[in-house]
Amino acid sequence: MTSPVITVEHGVVGYDGRPVLRDISLTVTAGEVVAILGANGSGKSTLIRAVLGLVPISAGSVTLFDRPLRRFRQWARIGYVPQRLGAGGGVPATVREVVASGRLARRGVLRPPGRADRSAVDAALRAVGLADRAGDPVSTLSGGQQQRTLIARALAGQPELLVLDEPTAGVDAASQEAFAGALRDFVADGGTVLLVAHELGPLRPVISRAVVVHEGRIAHDGAVPDPAGHHAEPDHDHVHPHCYDEPAGLWSN
Ligand SMILES: Nc1ncnc2c1ncn2[C@@H]1O[C@H](COP(=O)(O)OP(=O)(O)OP(=O)(O)O)[C@@H](O)[C@H]1O
Ligand SMILES: [Mg+2]
Repeated sequence: MTSPVITVEHGVVGYDGRPVLRDISLTVTAGEVVAILGANGSGKSTLIRAVLGLVPISAGSVTLFDRPLRRFRQWARIGYVPQRLGAGGGVPATVREVVASGRLARRGVLRPPGRADRSAVDAALRAVGLADRAGDPVSTLSGGQQQRTLIARALAGQPELLVLDEPTAGVDAASQEAFAGALRDFVADGGTVLLVAHELGPLRPVISRAVVVHEGRIAHDGAVPDPAGHHAEPDHDHVHPHCYDEPAGLWSN
C-alpha cells in the first residue's frame, strides 16, 4: 500500500574528504510529512541535497520513487525549495515569472503556457498569499516574501514530493499558518513532504514524523519531540532526547 518515495540506506556524504553524514538510513513513504531536525551544521541540508543528487554520496544508496537515484529522471515529480534565495543577481523577474518557472519541467520550455499552467500558478500564488504581489519584481520583496515565492514555485509544479529546506525561517506567524494550511492541502491531495525546520511552530500538527540528525547519524526517528524536549509517545525508544546539543528554542512553538 504505502510505497517508499525516498529511501536512503547507509548513506555517507562528505566534503573534501571530511565526513558530514556517516551512516544515514531513512525511508519516507507516500503521504508522510517528515521533518529533519538538528543543530546548525549537523548536515540537514546536506542530507536533502544528497537525496536530490545535488551532492554525491560516497557510500550507501538513495532511491526515489523506487528508482536508484542515478537512473531517476522524473524530476517533475519533485519540487525543491532551497534554504535561501541567493542574493538577487539583478534579474528583474516578477513574482509571477519566478512562480511560473516551476511549471517548466512539466510543460517543456518551448511550449507556451496553457490554461492549466496559469491556473496552477494562480493557485500557488494564493496558497502563499502573494497573489496581490504577482506583478512586482522579486527583488522588491522582503526575505520572507521571497521565501514564500520559492514555495509557490515548487507548489506550481504540482509535484508528488516536496522537499523544503527551512521553508518557514524568517517567515512571519500569519504566513507560517498559511503555509501549514497549504502543506495540509498538498498532503490531502496525495503529496509527500520532506522538510528541514528549526522551529516547527504552526507546522507541528502537520508533521507526521521527526528525524534528528546528530554527529552524522540519525539520533531519533519517530514522534515529533514536544517543546519540553520529551517524546510525545511514552514508549519511545533508543535515544534520549537530550543527547544532542540544541538550543531550547528548537522545540519551542
Ligand atoms: N559545499 C560545501 N563544501 C564544504 N563543506 C560544506 C558544504 N556544505 C556544507 N558543508 C559543511 O557540512 C556541514 C553540514 O552542513 P549543512 O549545511 O548540511 O548543515 P545544516 O544542518 O543544514 O545546518 P543549518 O541548520 O545551519 O542549515 C557543515 O560543517 C558545513 O560547513
Ligand atoms: Mg541547512
